[in-house]
Amino acid sequence: MKKETVIVLDFGGQYNQLIARRVRECNVYCEVKPYTVSLDEIKAMEPKGIIFTGGPNSVYDDTSPRYQKEIFELGIPILGICYGAQVIAHTLGGLVKTAPVSEYGHTEVEINTSDVMFEGVSAKTVCWMSHTDYIETAPEGFKVTAHTPVCPVAAMACPERNLYATQFHPEVMHTAEGQKMLSNFVYKICGCCGDWKMDSFVETTIENLREQIGEGKVLCALSGGVDSSVAAVLLSKAVGRQLTCVFVDHGLLRKNEGDEVEAVFGSNGSYELNFIRVNAQQRYYDKLRGVTDPEEKRKIIGAEFIRVFEEEAKKIGAVDYLVQGTIYPDVIESGLGKSAVIKSHHNVGGLPDVVDFKEIIEPLRMLFKDEVRKAGLELGIPKHLVFRQPFPGPGLGIRIIGEVTEEKVKIVQEADYIYREEIAKAGLDKSLGQYFAALTNMRSVGVMGDFRTYDYAVALRAVNTSDFMTADAAQLPWEVLNKVANRIVNEVNGVNRVVYDCTGKPPGTIEFE
Ligand code: XMP
Repeated sequence: MKKETVIVLDFGGQYNQLIARRVRECNVYCEVKPYTVSLDEIKAMEPKGIIFTGGPNSVYDDTSPRYQKEIFELGIPILGICYGAQVIAHTLGGLVKTAPVSEYGHTEVEINTSDVMFEGVSAKTVCWMSHTDYIETAPEGFKVTAHTPVCPVAAMACPERNLYATQFHPEVMHTAEGQKMLSNFVYKICGCCGDWKMDSFVETTIENLREQIGEGKVLCALSGGVDSSVAAVLLSKAVGRQLTCVFVDHGLLRKNEGDEVEAVFGSNGSYELNFIRVNAQQRYYDKLRGVTDPEEKRKIIGAEFIRVFEEEAKKIGAVDYLVQGTIYPDVIESGLGKSAVIKSHHNVGGLPDVVDFKEIIEPLRMLFKDEVRKAGLELGIPKHLVFRQPFPGPGLGIRIIGEVTEEKVKIVQEADYIYREEIAKAGLDKSLGQYFAALTNMRSVGVMGDFRTYDYAVALRAVNTSDFMTADAAQLPWEVLNKVANRIVNEVNGVNRVVYDCTGKPPGTIEFE
């Protein structure tokens, strides 16, 4: 049976991924395609619906993105959002103009609730507007289905041709009833039944991998992060011991992390695969001795990873497939799904050059992060791996300011462990974007008992963020900070001071280096 698909046609809007995620929240599979995709390709995908995204352009610029008129003749339901709405209006003979006042932000919109897209939506509802141009007159055959005092056509519809448009953004959370509107489009207008669920993704992916790989040999670089873990388990379920996972312990992992990964994937774990743990800690410490420049440290850690992996790959010999944990945002951001994307961070970047393989397999390339986690749960991967917070490829190497030594790694591991333990005890672990301890390169005077000390200061960081591009320092309860500081100073040798980082991003970054 053909999988129900909705296409998001990307006109350059900042919310293209978000629209796709919202459609998938309706359990309907959704793909983002650039507006340059051909009509034949669209037809071949047999979509149940198409959504035109917003975009920064004006339909009157010669170079602004458009789509050929014939798309409106396919009979496939189309929803245009913001610029996408203006493209529909302009192409079909309506009038798009620069609005006398541009609308930005929360805006009360009057809705015609008898329109199918707005069934069950309040007659006056707050929507998110962000536009300079607007539709002044809807094309012939369309009726106006929403307006504001400023915007005469805040939404329009031509049910006979299955064409719908909104000037506002139903996909963003600021539009209070936006998800209702999108689900009306997907279910009532496109006629989807919403059968795209994670269990069916997992099942069909395993079947497809089995078919694709046959008797082939597969190699996977496992970091213990959620993406590579889920990819590895999918492969293990598909081809069992034809899969070899190489896990490089670079000695810059959090406390106990190497053993935790081994417990899940190693010979005492629950998966059928060949697991190789490379204990390369000392190699990394040797290479990093005396190096203080952050970029140089990153380069050394990345290059050493490739070297260690190459040595292992040589022992294994030629393989047929190399697995990568590429996920959908990587694909979209790198130009919409053309070729295999090589993740730039150190645990996969550069690998294809040193492994003798025929093809790359990316089983997660169509999933968003929250979907990868759902797949992980579906596959029975332990929750502590599935909900692991992001951890940078260079690991603690960039959480130790200045030279990295084994002693400093031990200090930051212990301090971070205490911090994470107390955050979890306080029930804050699920609500924070990222939190960790770092070792400043600063030593200062303290007093312990009757003795003067001269030890390191540990910095605690906790941020709230949705995209990791911007972040606010979290306002942690004082009791929690106080307890963590006391425990660290008392339990971790070499630390006599704890500070909390109150800097947002920008101007700070989340990591310290
Ligand atoms: P920054 O420090 O740039 O971090 O604000 C943003 C997010 O990216 C993570 N990060 C990395 N992840 N390799 C990675 O895989 C890296 O080199 C790297 N540097 C930063 C960081 O943990 C945060 O989530």
